[in-house]
Amino acid sequence: MNAMNNPYTLVFGQPPIEIIHRTAQVERIVSEFNSPRPANYINLITGVRGSGKTVFITQIADTLKTKDNWIVVNLNPQRDMLVSLAAKLDSDKSLHKLFSEAQINLQAFGIGLSIKGVPPISDIEEALKKMLESIKKQKKRVLVTIDEATNSKEMRIFASTYQIFLRERLPIFLIMTGLHKEIDRLRNARGMTFLERAPRTVLLPLNQNQIIENYMHTLQVSQAEASILAQQTKGYSFAFQTIGYFVYENRDNLSKALDDAKEYLYIFAYEKIWSELSARDKQVTLAAAKVPSGEIIKMRNILGYSSNQFNPYRDRLLKAGILVSPRNGILKFALPWFDEYAITRSEQEEY
Ligand SMILES: Nc1ncnc2c1ncn2[C@@H]1O[C@H](COP(=O)(O)OP(=O)(O)OP(=O)(O)O)[C@@H](O)[C@H]1O
Ligand SMILES: [Mg+2]
Repeated sequence: MNAMNNPYTLVFGQPPIEIIHRTAQVERIVSEFNSPRPANYINLITGVRGSGKTVFITQIADTLKTKDNWIVVNLNPQRDMLVSLAAKLDSDKSLHKLFSEAQINLQAFGIGLSIKGVPPISDIEEALKKMLESIKKQKKRVLVTIDEATNSKEMRIFASTYQIFLRERLPIFLIMTGLHKEIDRLRNARGMTFLERAPRTVLLPLNQNQIIENYMHTLQVSQAEASILAQQTKGYSFAFQTIGYFVYENRDNLSKALDDAKEYLYIFAYEKIWSELSARDKQVTLAAAKVPSGEIIKMRNILGYSSNQFNPYRDRLLKAGILVSPRNGILKFALPWFDEYAITRSEQEEY
């Protein structure tokens, strides 16, 4: 088998060829933003590393881009986001024309040409307000996407200005992705209270039936085999690609393919996820890994924790997308083989 032809991808951040559409979750946001009187202008997308946040916002951006009343701008949270926003809006041909006609002089920010007899605007917030007002008059809307938002200075400056635009009912919408922890830090920062009320989308696992169909079709395996493989993914996006990839390379040895996939997940996702857990979170994760039945009571026994002591960890690991709770009193792993990984990893850490 030639890896060049492999339709599955091991690369993060690009829309994959083999994709399981999150139609319902994409549609909900698109139709909300598209409605004549939107109830929300913001959506925060969270999910564990490799769950598909970048691919998800790209899909929303691409969907809205095809509509001619939408302008989509992707901002890098490491840069001066307000100037970038002005520059990117101005680089849209029809908007550039609009801004020139409205005599908005952006020269002070090194954007566009000077306009005769019109003094340049020196305040970026003021400039953006004027730009958004003329966009509003055209009945157009702007979507800003920010991938991997963190509680950085640039991000906080952008967010506080954005808050002002919202108050003035300017048509600017925002989708941000980030790890649960980072989004929380940003939301809890001073002056970010509006983010507290912002709706959140927690990415759901990919649909099992669609994964089965995809594997049957693309890998040419039987339905029984496809079901086993689909179950192994647990609907985790990166595992869907990784398992697909290695089975495509090794169709007559599924257990070898799964071992390869597992190792790949360990190195390219779980190392990072693990390293971002606190020492206590690791202990709780390890206790969960030692209880295959998922009974919380047994995990608490291992740790010697009361339920009050245990609950905050449970909540955090659930929100982080590492554990799921299929029913009361039970915790299971959301990521394939993460329990095995936790056990192996902890043994290495305890010399
Ligand atoms: N809907 C999907 N269907 C199939 N594969 C997907 C889907 N979404 C993402 N993937 C695949 O999963 C992997 C991770 O996706 P992505 O880079 O979007 O995750 P992420 O949540 O942004 O991760 P990180 O937190 O590291 O930025 C990639 O290989 C991507 O191709
Ligand atoms: Mg990403």
